[in-house]
Amino acid sequence: MSSTDTRTPVRVDVNTGGADSVILIGDGIVDQLPTLLGAHGVGARRFVVSSPTIWRLHGPQVQQALGAVEPILLPDGERYKNLQSVAKVYDALIRANADRGSAIIAIGGGVIGDTAGFAAATFLRGITLVHVPTTLLAQVDSSIGGKVGVNHILGKNLIGAFHQPRLVVIDPLVLRTLPRREFRSGLYEVVKYGMIASRTLFELLTRETKAIFDRDPAVLVPAIVESCGIKADVVSKDERESGLRRILNYGHTIGHALEAVTKYRRYRHGEAIAYGMLAAADLAVARGALAEREREALAQLIAALGPLPPVVDLPIRDLLDAVRRDKKVVHGKLHFVIAIEIGATMTIDDVTEEELVAVLERLGLTR
Ligand SMILES: NC(=O)c1ccc[n+]([C@@H]2O[C@H](COP(=O)([O-])OP(=O)(O)OC[C@H]3O[C@@H](n4cnc5c(N)ncnc54)[C@H](O)[C@@H]3O)[C@@H](O)[C@H]2O)c1
Ligand SMILES: [Zn+2]
Repeated sequence: MSSTDTRTPVRVDVNTGGADSVILIGDGIVDQLPTLLGAHGVGARRFVVSSPTIWRLHGPQVQQALGAVEPILLPDGERYKNLQSVAKVYDALIRANADRGSAIIAIGGGVIGDTAGFAAATFLRGITLVHVPTTLLAQVDSSIGGKVGVNHILGKNLIGAFHQPRLVVIDPLVLRTLPRREFRSGLYEVVKYGMIASRTLFELLTRETKAIFDRDPAVLVPAIVESCGIKADVVSKDERESGLRRILNYGHTIGHALEAVTKYRRYRHGEAIAYGMLAAADLAVARGALAEREREALAQLIAALGPLPPVVDLPIRDLLDAVRRDKKVVHGKLHFVIAIEIGATMTIDDVTEEELVAVLERLGLTR
């Protein structure tokens, strides 16, 4: 693929039966925002929600495209993904006499997208939402699928809704300013898509690791397109996570537990998921469900994507407690997704404590 091809937007559709949403991916498409918004029926009253960091870096380009907009800026960081930030958005909307035809345009990572998205889902019982994701994680994951919401001091993502964005505008060029660790964190979710649904994607990452790190559009754009396609496909078939959508939780059982026991401070989300995928692969190999060479290919790719913060000091017992408290336990049974080969999964619900202890030990945690 020549690099000029990456500027022609690729379209991916999410069809959930209710409101459909359209994902457009292309280098530089932020410059086309007014045309794209118009073409997808987004009303003229548009409220941009972003953060000071993101607006400093990308606000000028957005202003260039949309004209002088007065953004609603929410403070940066996971700890501000809360109802107070949502209230700030409501305040601004009400003061400006926003109505049901108004739209929220969320420009930022998953924190801004989830928070602004929740405001859009609830203001006047729901107004139009557009995502312009600016982290790799947001581009391949959080901006797609309609899950919006905020944290409560007692737990992450406890308050939320389903609200499909009308449009998701993905411009991989905005990732140029993303800190390397954030970029790598998003890459682990791309690895996840490879493991659950696409050997081609997995092999692309393995073969082109350096080009990916250089954020070379010729590789990055196809990797994002493939990832979005997989998530869109899964969400289209199972919006409310009654079954299939669970495969997106591959690596997330152990990953979420690692995040929880370290109070969300040690790992970026993707880093915890990387460990979770290793654990799931190990468990699958121990059951004879996955070939050892496939597990080894995953371990090598994860190693090539860079160092992960340590796990050695974490007690296995704490991890087990966190796993038990997880939302993935339904009627007392833990639903655990394993890959049975690169690109295919199955869900099992009979994982024993002994198996979990064994994989956590092999991962290097403390007995
Ligand atoms: N809704 C969903 O389906 C879903 C799925 C996965 C994750 N999430 C949520 O997403 C959140 C994590 O999102 P995230 O990883 O994008 O983190 P984030 O939104 O906190 O962004 C990470 C950091 O990058 C900065 N940043 C963003 N874009 C930048 C850019 N282009 N250049 C430089 N800096 C930039 C931000 O200011 C922030 O400091 C979590 O709250 C998680 O729960 C939601
Ligand atoms: Zn994730």
